[in-house]
Amino acid sequence: MSITRRKFITKVAQYGGSACAAMLALKLLDSSIAGAFSLSGSGKGKRVIILGAGTAGMAAAYELGKVGYDCQILEARNRAGGRCWTVRRGDEETEVGGTRQVAGFEPGLYFNPGPARIPQHHITLNYCKEFGIPIEVFTNLNEAAYYYNESAGSLASKRVRIREAKADMRGHTSELLAKAIHQDELDLAITSEDKEKMVEFLRREGDLSPDLFYKGSSRRGYSTFPGASLEPGPGKREDPFDLKALIQSGFGNYFSSEYSIDQQMTMFEPVGGIDQIAKAFEQRLSDKITYGAEVKEIRKTANGVRITYADRTGRLRQVTGDFCICTIPLPVLKGIPSDLSPQLKEAIAGVTYAQTGKSGLQFARRFWEDDDRIFGGITRTNLNITQIFYPSHNYYAKKGILVGHYNFEEKAVEMGNLAPAARIERALYEGSKIHPQYPKEFETGFAVAWHKIRYSLGGWASYTSTTRERYYPTLNQPDGPIYLAGEHLSYLTGWIAGALESAQKVATAIHRQVLSGT
Ligand code: ALA
Repeated sequence: MSITRRKFITKVAQYGGSACAAMLALKLLDSSIAGAFSLSGSGKGKRVIILGAGTAGMAAAYELGKVGYDCQILEARNRAGGRCWTVRRGDEETEVGGTRQVAGFEPGLYFNPGPARIPQHHITLNYCKEFGIPIEVFTNLNEAAYYYNESAGSLASKRVRIREAKADMRGHTSELLAKAIHQDELDLAITSEDKEKMVEFLRREGDLSPDLFYKGSSRRGYSTFPGASLEPGPGKREDPFDLKALIQSGFGNYFSSEYSIDQQMTMFEPVGGIDQIAKAFEQRLSDKITYGAEVKEIRKTANGVRITYADRTGRLRQVTGDFCICTIPLPVLKGIPSDLSPQLKEAIAGVTYAQTGKSGLQFARRFWEDDDRIFGGITRTNLNITQIFYPSHNYYAKKGILVGHYNFEEKAVEMGNLAPAARIERALYEGSKIHPQYPKEFETGFAVAWHKIRYSLGGWASYTSTTRERYYPTLNQPDGPIYLAGEHLSYLTGWIAGALESAQKVATAIHRQVLSGT
């Protein structure tokens, strides 16, 4: 019995098998490098029009190009990378309905308004390795950074080192639990020997005294650190915060974001800016990208697709291809006339995007290092700015750029409604409550509201369980020769890895179709 390779793969998938494993067996995919992706077999010069030279579009072109596809990328901006963007001196941006901003940063300094950090399990690192992009540790968690909340009980408007909040919260909760277990006040389905082990664990976990009290801990740091001097000798410690104050402070709410799998250390960043990833793809695709090409229409033809775009001069041009990979963010795509099916159009319009903003603030002096002894990491606050990121590179350089705000949803909308200069003023005003050095040391800034950035109109796809269920399967189905790709076509929304994995998924699907000859 003869069965086409396509049918075989489809059957394997239908019966719950892994299509990927089947493709490996059939040698459509090459798994010779652990974790690396590559297609095998020939794409026979099939023409693929890719909309968007972000990381998804470029990864698709790169992978398909390796196996003989003829890819052309249309990019609306005059640069590649999309949200994978680094701002340096002279870079400019005009938001929708906004004023023009030009970055005045010191040469050599930079700001990543979009992605900034890479978890160690993301395939983004595979491409860094393949392209030889130097990476360095991105310090995502630094217990020397601060928590600062207003209207939050007796710790309100007080900057507290993360290590103080964490040590004290851990100490108090361990004390409560250890005492309850020890005094048999907790109904645990474990033996008394296990109970003793559990109490011993909590004693260490919370740094409790032998009689199971939390009386503070060197883990929370010192007001005077130990050194060689005789006074204070072993260091001077302050009393712990009490449990009620900690609970009311709301600091505990910050722990959970630090626990999440994609925020755990070790994290990385490319040396010199996140756009080193975009640039590495771009270098390998230089003759394939048409810049300043704004897509106006997406049409199906008898044999494939026809895309109409306006070039830099505004003149309309057309390109045709056998396939189209559309990586245009959904809020932008929904405004482009197309032959996409009504069902797909409904899905495109049905997914909301995160509203988010960030600013980069350049200071004349790295006071956070000199005065606060903070080298990398993030301060968190319930002020509008939400977060301050300290740079994880060029320690002790003369100047530096902090991320002065990185906020979401209502806070991002409120901040985004201000003109960029006013956003910077607000970031300075709020940030100076935590770092009083701000006004004296500030030099220049650049502020981005992603929901107002042309050709993006949002930070990343933000599915609810309902929209994921209702629209995600449709968005993943090709509509004739048109395939959607991007971070929004993944469960890693808001990450470069989502865009890259989606690109690989779509490249594989197109290749499968071409090889099976259907
Ligand atoms: N991946 C984005 C971040 O790291 C959302 O903040």
